[in-house]
Amino acid sequence: MAKEVKSVEYGLEKIFEGAQDFLPLLGTDYVEFYVGNAKQAAHYYKTAFGFQSHAYAGLETGLKDRCSYVLAQNKIRLVLTTPLVSDSPIAEHIKKHGDGVKVIALWVEDATKAFEETTSRGAKAFMQPTVEKDQFGEVVRSGIYTYGETVHIFVERKKYDGPFLPGFVKWESDYNPTDVGFKYVDHMVGNVGWGEMNQWVKFYEDVMGFVNFLSFDDKQIHTEYSALMSKVMSNGNGRIKFPINEPAEGKKKSQIEEYIQFYEGAGCQHIAVATDDIIKTVTEMRKRGVEFLSAPPAAYYEEIPARLGKHMSMMKEDIKELQKLAILVDADEEGYLLQIFTKPVEDRPTLFYEIIQRMGARGFGAGNFKALFESIEREQERRGTL
Ligand code: FE2
Repeated sequence: MAKEVKSVEYGLEKIFEGAQDFLPLLGTDYVEFYVGNAKQAAHYYKTAFGFQSHAYAGLETGLKDRCSYVLAQNKIRLVLTTPLVSDSPIAEHIKKHGDGVKVIALWVEDATKAFEETTSRGAKAFMQPTVEKDQFGEVVRSGIYTYGETVHIFVERKKYDGPFLPGFVKWESDYNPTDVGFKYVDHMVGNVGWGEMNQWVKFYEDVMGFVNFLSFDDKQIHTEYSALMSKVMSNGNGRIKFPINEPAEGKKKSQIEEYIQFYEGAGCQHIAVATDDIIKTVTEMRKRGVEFLSAPPAAYYEEIPARLGKHMSMMKEDIKELQKLAILVDADEEGYLLQIFTKPVEDRPTLFYEIIQRMGARGFGAGNFKALFESIEREQERRGTL
């Protein structure tokens, strides 16, 4: 059951009591993917997701073994990195996992202290504190492992005003599709193996000072066929939220098992991006060819007024329009939220995206889990992996 954590309002954010302040986090700095062909992936994220060309490093800037494209949309920065040689940890990563998230980078005031605080509490080191410099100043980065082969890199950039990181040049392109209204990373979800959820909950509590502020068990998250368990971890100021999922016993294979099978281990399952106007964002993404999970049955939309209750009067969106776009709706005490999930964006059924518009609600759409999982199971059925 959900562990209640008392919270107090602090500006627009919540400060979670019980969260430790030994690791103050300013926000998500960037998300780095290891991919088989960064040039083509960058084109996809520009065209379909509305990201803007931002920075680049590769052969032309003196790198010999890899190249990276940095894309930006408001506060979100994605880095797409590809190996240029076979003998490379990046190539090994792709061979095992396919395209996926390697780095969830966190913006900090002091990357050396972040490294010391976390490694002294048991984190496994990925990158010793390292100072990188160029004509724009200096950046200090350090890194630790989290679930699977995924890492957190701490980025201290208070003495830097270059385009991204030292060694990167501004990426100017003649091809600049408009953005689709993504604002910031709302949360990033990790899938871990059988019985491993609590170990990672403890990691985020003990090593990173996070708190577990919402929990869902298999009695709440299940369909006729499959189930999962999830615990939502948050840092103290609420800017960083990492739900952790593990599979639970069901009649058939759960989507978490399918992920673990195809990713060959634990990894990032989805990135949720916030928008202020989900109808506009999703309409635009559909026009650009992004595939979303199918809409739940009509009865789901007929029940929305009852589910929203007191929040129905503040709802501006037309339910017919939400239904047409397959957008889901959920509510909690504080408000409602609108959300939709893409299909996986690689051939392996692994990473996908969530688009979320929060209208006061702080939850994760628990009321939609059943409808959502039934929709995922229809896809699993087609893949023969249910
Ligand atoms: Fe989510």
